[in-house]
Formats: sequence, C-alpha cells, structure tokens
Amino acid sequence: MSEYSNYVLETMLNHKSIRSYSDRSPSDETVETVVRAGQQAPFVSQLYSVLLTRKGSLPFGAPLLFTICVDIHKLEKVMEEREWQLETNEISILLFGIEDAALMAENMVIAGESMGLGSCFLGEAPYYAEKIVENYDLPEKVFPLVQLAMGYPDEDKPTRPRYPLDFVLFEEEYPDLDDDRLYRAMEKMDEGYMNQDYYEENDAKIPLQGNQEDEHTYESYGWTEHISRKWGQWHKDPAEILEQFKKCGFDVCPEEEQ
Ligand SMILES: Cc1cc2nc3c(=O)[nH]c(=O)nc-3n(C[C@H](O)[C@H](O)[C@H](O)COP(=O)(O)O)c2cc1C
Repeated sequence: MSEYSNYVLETMLNHKSIRSYSDRSPSDETVETVVRAGQQAPFVSQLYSVLLTRKGSLPFGAPLLFTICVDIHKLEKVMEEREWQLETNEISILLFGIEDAALMAENMVIAGESMGLGSCFLGEAPYYAEKIVENYDLPEKVFPLVQLAMGYPDEDKPTRPRYPLDFVLFEEEYPDLDDDRLYRAMEKMDEGYMNQDYYEENDAKIPLQGNQEDEHTYESYGWTEHISRKWGQWHKDPAEILEQFKKCGFDVCPEEEQ
C-alpha cells in the first residue's frame, strides 16, 4: 500500500466510465469549471476546442456531450496576426494537436469526477467527423477527436482493472515479456472484466466477421478477446479515416496525389 492518500489520488484511482445518468442538469458554472480545469492541462500550443451540446437525445442519456477537437484553425489565426504561416507538416501538427486535446479531455474527466460528475468517452467521432463539421459549422483544420458524455451518475460500478504495474512500468530497459508476466497480465484483465459481467451488461461482444463460428459466450469473453477482435478486424483500410481528415482540411498523405 502506498503511503500516499489524498483526495486527488482517491478520485483518480476511483475512476470508472459512467453509462447511465440521472436527470439532473449540471449548471453553467459546473460546465465552465470542468472546461477551465481541462484547459489547465499542460499543452504544446493549446491546439484544441471543445464543442458542447445539451440538446436532444444524447449518448447514455447524459445531459452533456462534449466533442473535443484538435484545432489548428485558431493557431493559424494567431500566426496570421503575427504575419506567419503554418509550415509544419500536417502529421506533426496533428500529432501535437492530439496530445493537447487528449490531455485536456482527461483533465475534464478528473475535474468532473472531483465534482460528483461521471463521464464516458466515445471514440468514433473521427469516423463521422464530416457530420460533426456540418452540425457545428466547423471551419477547416478543426478535427473532432473524441466525444465525452457527462452528467451526474445513475449507477455505481466497481472500478475496471488495469494491467499489473510490471506490465507497464519498465525502468531503464524494456524487459522480455515472458509467458508468466504475459499470462498474469491477461488474466488480471480478463477476470476483472468478466467478474463484473462488463461485456454482457453493455451488450458489447464484437461479432466475428465472415462465417467464423463464435466459441465464446459472455461466460468466456474477456477483455483480451475483446481487444483482439477489435484490432484484428476493425478499420483495416486507412481510406475511411484519411477521407475524414480530408473533409476537415487535413491532407495527411500529400505524396499520394503526386
Ligand atoms: C478514446 C476513448 C474512446 C472510448 N470510446 C468508448 C465508446 O465508444 N463507448 C464506450 O462505451 N466506452 C468508450 N470508452 C471507454 C472505455 O471503454 C473505458 O475507459 C475502458 O473500458 C476502461 O473502463 P473505465 O473507464 O471504467 O476504467 C472510450 C475510452 C477512450 C479513452
């Protein structure tokens, strides 16, 4: 056990994504506090904007839906005022923008949790960026990175497991990930998710593509099977995401056109 115990650590170590919300609406002050705390994350160049909607039927019945965007448009405006032009290649600026936006987003999660709010990220925004551009009238060079549903929780779940520390923290040298270390890591993750019927409750089993017979019921479907199915089947062709980048004004593969 760590000798440290404080409210910040407690909040962070108690984090869990929330997928059911009460009807209570967070006040403007609450929303602004969350976003202000998000802003105070370390940044490369504040390459983000946060879109908010409170209207309509939002994911998980949440009262708030934030869309955290990589925003290079604002950078260009500032540079223009200083009579400069952006010359950095688009992959590099996108990478730094993703870092800025991701750190900001996670700060919002922690700030929210410290104020009694819960949240859940939604990762598919990049794949329907075009639609978000249309809905919010986004200028070029603004890319919707991730969405964050937020509100007051209407569920109280246990925390979800993480890899053991010896599968994450490597001092001085990356170790040989021998079978023992690997199996312990996989078992911790699978048991942790299966013990709380996570995939069954969220009806989140990823179907096998093609005519493969599925040998897994929810009894044996754990986290490692889930991520294997995800990254062994999804988004094989980069064309789909490159198209969305293009719709947002980012040409990440300029040599393709020559
Ligand atoms: C970038 C990102 C995208 C995510 N997308 C989704 C999503 O589309 N749907 C969902 O239910 N959860 C989503 N999650 C939440 C993860 O499933 C969750 O964080 C993970 O299972 C760990 O659980 P915990 O947050 O409760 O600890 C996403 C998380 C991240 C960081």
